[in-house]
Amino acid sequence: MRTYLVTGAAGFIGANFLKYILVKYGEDIKVIVLDKLTYAGNLGTIKNELKDPRVRFVKGDIGNTELVSQIFADYDIDFVVNFAAESHVDRSITNPQLFLETNILGTQNILNCAKIAWTTGTDKEGYPTYRSGKKYLQVSTDEVYGSLSKDYDEPHLLVIEDEVVKTVVKGRTKIQTYGKKYFTEETPLDPRSPYSASKTGADLIVKAYHETFRMPINITRCSNNYGPYHFPEKLIPLIIKNILEGRLLPVYGKGENVRDWLYVEDHAKAIDMVLNKGRIGEIYNIGGFNEEQNINIVKLTIKTIARLMDEEPKYRKVLKTDLSNINETLITFVGDRLGHDMRYAIDPSKIAKELGWYPETPFEKGIEKTIRWYLENQDWVEEVISGDYQKYYEQMY
Ligand code: NAD
Ligand code: DAU
Repeated sequence: MRTYLVTGAAGFIGANFLKYILVKYGEDIKVIVLDKLTYAGNLGTIKNELKDPRVRFVKGDIGNTELVSQIFADYDIDFVVNFAAESHVDRSITNPQLFLETNILGTQNILNCAKIAWTTGTDKEGYPTYRSGKKYLQVSTDEVYGSLSKDYDEPHLLVIEDEVVKTVVKGRTKIQTYGKKYFTEETPLDPRSPYSASKTGADLIVKAYHETFRMPINITRCSNNYGPYHFPEKLIPLIIKNILEGRLLPVYGKGENVRDWLYVEDHAKAIDMVLNKGRIGEIYNIGGFNEEQNINIVKLTIKTIARLMDEEPKYRKVLKTDLSNINETLITFVGDRLGHDMRYAIDPSKIAKELGWYPETPFEKGIEKTIRWYLENQDWVEEVISGDYQKYYEQMY
């Protein structure tokens, strides 16, 4: 029996991780969810999981020492998975301080509470010793590495020769890339937005607890996720929402910035593997060799929605616009994000080689699955946008 403390599980990736482990582990687990329910956290996202006797929900801030230490006193926590964060780069540009409070101080608070709860004594050199089987996992991001340059205007196809890369991209013989370099775990940290600076600060304090106190930790750094329950202010769900409403599709700058997209369930699977098999103290990059320019993501989303409307007329009932509007004329180029990172591209060879992880969801399949999910779950979108659902649930906890 393992007991998890999963923070931020009412948000996008945390909720998908919670769903993944509850299905995978049957009766063998108990999960304590700690979430402050900010605008990005919604209990409607995990309403079925909240009814599960294996799950306990605690509403609160990861930075609240009294609350977090009480959780460690009440439950014998084995694994901490810290998803809780302010996660939106654009919001970090308008309110940086909140990002530092939650992402750095909040992280240090959970780490410290875990350290106190897990310590059994000290060894002869003075380092703390810990109860066995404990681990703290920090969910981090490729943004801590800064920005890679774009060497090609059009995607360049690389023939795969490396055996490890072949295991990651199963079935593909070539990968599409926009530049020669990739982020590895050795790439120097070079954050450039208040969000990524705060995530870097968090990574560094986690690493410091490992070096100074020998805390059993891992850090995972993942590329852009997409999939169900993604809050509709991030690129892909925002574009889907705007298409259905016949609104313009805002593309920052020229739309040339490149992101490396990963289906969220593949991220959940990677975190589960690192928790169970990752070497203590190690950092693992997670990504799918799936680079694309924003403009192409937007065009593909338009094309896929138009096709689905054509092939499956049942979806037309969610349209708040004229069918003939679903085309590229909706795209509107708007002012660029300040300090907009040009390109992210993860090399996940380490996690592939050491733990056998690879992304199971090809992008074309993942994006269609995601779009279908949004078409079939418009109630969820309405709820998270209105905030009413959140208020309703807040009265209950
Ligand atoms: P999200 O914004 O959808 O969810 C964040 C969750 O954390 C919400 O439920 C929110 O209520 C909760 N939260 C925020 N502040 C809190 C606090 N002080 N105390 C307790 N709970 C708090 O974020 P996401 O996209 O699911 O990202 C989850 C984690 O993964 C973040 O740490 C993020 O940096 C990281 N990450 C995200 C991506 C991505 O593409 N979304 C990629 C790599 C890494
Ligand atoms: O790379 C991992 C990161 O991915 C995570 O650490 C962050 O938590 C997560 O939010 C995400 O950050 P991005 O800034 O890459 O995601 P976002 O969806 O906000 O933007 C994706 C790209 O699309 C980015 O280049 C900015 C652009 N964009 C975004 C929005 C919201 C637009 O062109 N138009 C938009 O309206």
